[in-house]
Amino acid sequence: MEKIGENMKFFIDSADVDAIRKYAEIGLVDGVTTNPTIIMKSGREHKEVIREIASIISGPISVEGISDTCEEILAEAEEFRKWAQNVVIKVPMTREGLKAVKILEEKGVSTNVTLVFSASQALLAAKAGASYVSPFVGRLDDIGVKGMDVVGEIMDIYMNHWYKTKVIVASVRSLSHVIDSAKLGAHIATIPPKILDEMWEHDLTKKGIAQFREDYKKTSRKG
Ligand code: E4P
Repeated sequence: MEKIGENMKFFIDSADVDAIRKYAEIGLVDGVTTNPTIIMKSGREHKEVIREIASIISGPISVEGISDTCEEILAEAEEFRKWAQNVVIKVPMTREGLKAVKILEEKGVSTNVTLVFSASQALLAAKAGASYVSPFVGRLDDIGVKGMDVVGEIMDIYMNHWYKTKVIVASVRSLSHVIDSAKLGAHIATIPPKILDEMWEHDLTKKGIAQFREDYKKTSRKG
């Protein structure tokens, strides 16, 4: 499998602006994903919080509505795009959703097909021309299906056929979801702040720093 030029990207799966700011400051956030539940957890108004996120992050910010029909999805997309120029329209994996994806992508509007739970759904999303597809690995694990196996299938299909659609591994619940995404060549993992925090930690790193500090003191002249 040959992949040239692009490394894995990290999106932050949150509407917590403090967490987004913390990781943006160290240059580790390439984009943000939200959904209505994530926005609700932020306790803030949808438009206001998306606008604030857009003032911190210049990469793609996925925003999800609640529309059913293609027409409604298009109208909602128009509204979301007024909020910030880097908004990506999150569209549910339905027939009406994919109809809207085709129209939006043809107009140059990026879409993220969400609530994807199988390789066949991901194949349809790619055929519709979606910029992104979001397989939900944690929710698959919850029902006893290995989420990462589905991601592996999607990656094989996209690589075999050179689809431009990028895979955002979503519903990430553990460090191994992130590492497995990287091993499978997934383009992006969207990671909750709690898991991003865990990525830094190793007891031996802490121990090593303490030891080196002690030893440094023993060999440096005072005054
Ligand atoms: C992101 O695009 C998804 O909406 C999110 O990762 C879902 O995560 P959850 O399954 O933990 O709600």
